This record gives sequence, structure tokens and C-alpha cells, in this order.
Amino acid sequence: MKLMSSPRRWGVVMQVLHWTTALLVFGLLAVGLVMDEMATSPTKIKVFAMHKSFGITLLALVLLRLLWRVIDRRPKPAPMPAWQRWAARLTHVGLYASVLVMAISGWLYNSASNFALKWFGLFSVPSISAPDKALKHFAHEVHETTWIVILVLIALHVGAALKHHLIDKDDTLTAMLPGKPETGDAP
Ligand code: HEM
Ligand code: HEM
Repeated sequence: MKLMSSPRRWGVVMQVLHWTTALLVFGLLAVGLVMDEMATSPTKIKVFAMHKSFGITLLALVLLRLLWRVIDRRPKPAPMPAWQRWAARLTHVGLYASVLVMAISGWLYNSASNFALKWFGLFSVPSISAPDKALKHFAHEVHETTWIVILVLIALHVGAALKHHLIDKDDTLTAMLPGKPETGDAP
């Protein structure tokens, strides 16, 4: 497999970044919703701390992914009507944007609440705001609503990936999966 993307498939760097960020998004959504309902206990505090550390990790990975996207090329899209290409582009931009908003609002909520944030207990993550009640409420509202946008976009995104694979039978999904080298690839 190649590090960089080719006209026919995503490179290994983009694939690893895509699937690790996807896994983190699913995990953070599930844990976020469950932890909110937990009764106050030492376990709840630990789960909150893990949620924040994984959330900051996801933020760093998404920023790295966007940087890599500028360096790397994009595989050529499978033949499809122009509206579908636009819908895919919009969904992808929406996914990047909503995940960034989710992570930054969580960080802002934590900072404005004046809570310390230690990345997996290893080092302090700086605050991005001074303690501020109004900002805390705003960031909380954003964090509590944006996950719905992410869920809707993921449903569209996964639905489209499955449609390409099962109905159109094109390479859109397999290009994002590890697989055999392409015909004509250098060994
Ligand atoms: C993209 C990354 C993230 C996702 C997908 C995510 C997801 C969630 C979800 C679904 C909830 C439950 C919301 C609700 O009850 O309606 C939640 C709560 C929370 N998240 Fe995140 N989160 C992310 C990043 C972060 C970060 C980076 C921090 C802090 C540094 C953070 C701090 C919190 C806190 C403190 C709560 C509890 C809010 C409350 O007390 O009601 N999250 N998160
Ligand atoms: C089972 C779940 C998932 C499947 C099957 C899947 C599949 C795919 C496929 C096939 C592509 C390539 C699309 C193309 O070539 O046009 C892609 C791209 C992408 N995926 Fe996913 N994905 C999944 C989960 C997620 C999640 C949870 C996120 C949310 C962060 C996400 C964000 C993206 C983004 C932003 C792109 C565009 C990449 C770019 O052009 O930079 N995916 N996905």
C-alpha cells in the first residue's frame, strides 16, 4: 500500500486517519451521551476525564488530517451525477466542520468552567478562555446540540458509501479500505 493517495485509492495515511477519527467520533458520541446520565461518582469523574482527553486527541487528528489533505491528492471520484458529487462534497465539509465545532465547544466549555484539563494525566492542556459564565452556557448549548448534526451527516455519509458499494457497485468504499495493490502499481 502507498502512503500517498493515487487516482484510484486513498493512501495509507488518509485511510488510517479516516478510520481512527471515525472510531473516535463514534466512541465519543456514545460515551458523551452515557456519561451525561451517570450519577455523580469517582467513576463518572474518570469517564469525563477520558472523554475530554480523547476529544482533544480527536481535535489534533482532524487538524492533522486537514493538513494532510492539502499535501495529498484526492482519488478521482467514481462516475456519478453532478448533484451527487456536490452532495458528497457538502457532507464531507459538514463532517469536518461539525466535528471541529464539537471538539472546540467541549474545550471551550471546560475552559470557561475553569476546570483543569490534563491529557490522559500526562500534561496540562491550556485553557482557551478565562472563566466566563455566559461563554460556558453558550459552549455547553453548542456541545449539546451539534452531536445531532454529526449523527445526521454520518447517516447520510454511511448510507451513500453503502449505496455506492451495493447498488452502484463502484470503488468508492473499497478505495477507503486496505486492499490489493492496484494493477500497474509499483511494487
Ligand atoms: C468531537 C469530539 C467530541 C464529541 C463527538 C463529544 C460528544 C459529546 C456528547 C454526545 C455529549 C453529551 C451531550 C448531551 O448530553 O447532550 C458530550 C458531553 C460532554 N463533553 Fe464532549 N464530545 C467531544 C469533545 C469534547 C471535548 C474536547 C471536551 C472537553 C475538553 C468535552 C467535554 C464534554 C463535557 C464536559 C460534557 C458534559 C456536558 C454536561 O455536563 O452536560 N467533549 N460530549
Ligand atoms: C462506517 C462508517 C464510515 C464509512 C463506511 C465511511 C466511508 C467513507 C468513504 C468510502 C469515503 C471516501 C468518499 C469519497 O471518495 O468521496 C469517506 C470519506 C470521508 N469520511 Fe467517511 N466513512 C465512515 C465514517 C465516517 C465518520 C464517522 C466520519 C466523521 C468524522 C467520516 C468522515 C469522512 C470525511 C470528512 C471524508 C472525506 C474525506 C476527504 O475528502 O477529505 N467518515 N468515508
